[in-house]
Amino acid sequence: MDMVSSTSSAIETRNLSKHFRVSLRRKVIGLDKLNFVVRENEVYGLLGPNGSGKSTTIKLILGLYQPTEGEARLFGMNVESVSSRVSVGFLPENPYFYKYLSGEETVRFFGRLCGMRGRALEDKVSELIAMVGLERHRHRRLGGYSKGMLQRIGLAQAMVQDPKLLLLDEPTAGVDPIGSIEIRDMILKLKKMGKTILLCSHLLDQVQDVCDRIGILQYGKMILEGDVKELLTRKDQYQYVIEGLSQEARSQIGRQIGDKGGRILREGSPQTTLEQLFLQTVRQGDNRQEGI
Ligand SMILES: Nc1ncnc2c1ncn2[C@@H]1O[C@H](COP(=O)(O)OP(=O)(O)OP(=O)(O)O)[C@@H](O)[C@H]1O
Ligand SMILES: [Mg+2]
Repeated sequence: MDMVSSTSSAIETRNLSKHFRVSLRRKVIGLDKLNFVVRENEVYGLLGPNGSGKSTTIKLILGLYQPTEGEARLFGMNVESVSSRVSVGFLPENPYFYKYLSGEETVRFFGRLCGMRGRALEDKVSELIAMVGLERHRHRRLGGYSKGMLQRIGLAQAMVQDPKLLLLDEPTAGVDPIGSIEIRDMILKLKKMGKTILLCSHLLDQVQDVCDRIGILQYGKMILEGDVKELLTRKDQYQYVIEGLSQEARSQIGRQIGDKGGRILREGSPQTTLEQLFLQTVRQGDNRQEGI
């Protein structure tokens, strides 16, 4: 059967499967007949517990693993052809870099690998170093970088040839909350620029903030897929968050809701999130340090 590939899909898989032979008699199922589509210009979150097949999916999409069954296409092209990957940037889950190169040299190195040279390359290196917030550390060797700083360099190298599609395997692993928010904002910026992003992450709040659609894998199978807003909307309930009403007015409204046949399931002051509290506190700390 030939795969129907529409021009608007960045990634498309059909029955994509990968079995790993771990001993003579044992095989492990990495991915089991995955069918899914990532449309152009969407941010798609691939979620799932450890070992559910997220990284295996990415490696199959990049042609780094040979599928046991099925196939994957990038922009309509079978991933077996090298040219399918020309417009794809990849951040692996454990990026490996030369520790004696500086941040800037690393990004330049990857730019050269993609055939970039001269002024265009230098401009791109500076732009990316600034984009991932490593200007102050650009001349330091990677051997002395923290985990989050390495992750940022990984993102910069993934974007070096200005790819149409980015495959990000845990971009926020080891990154502090502020760094994670910067990466989230960067993903939103890239989406605005028209990029397509496949994101694997365990930070569900962030996934909720940036992804248009998500898919949840378990034991190598897709067990739930859909539009994030749609999946999270409780259609049988409705909520108001009210400001400026007296206790008495609130009680009156509460009684009216009861009279109309409604039932109040929760009431009280909404809580802020730990993320908001953390950011507020750290920013105040920054201001104190700068004497503001
Ligand atoms: N090279 C390999 N050899 C043998 N088994 C493998 C290999 N790569 C992956 N697997 C197995 O395939 C399954 C899926 O692994 P995968 O790395 O895709 O999970 P994941 O969803 O990315 O998990 P995590 O959240 O921990 O990154 C696991 O059972 C894993 O042990
Ligand atoms: Mg993984």
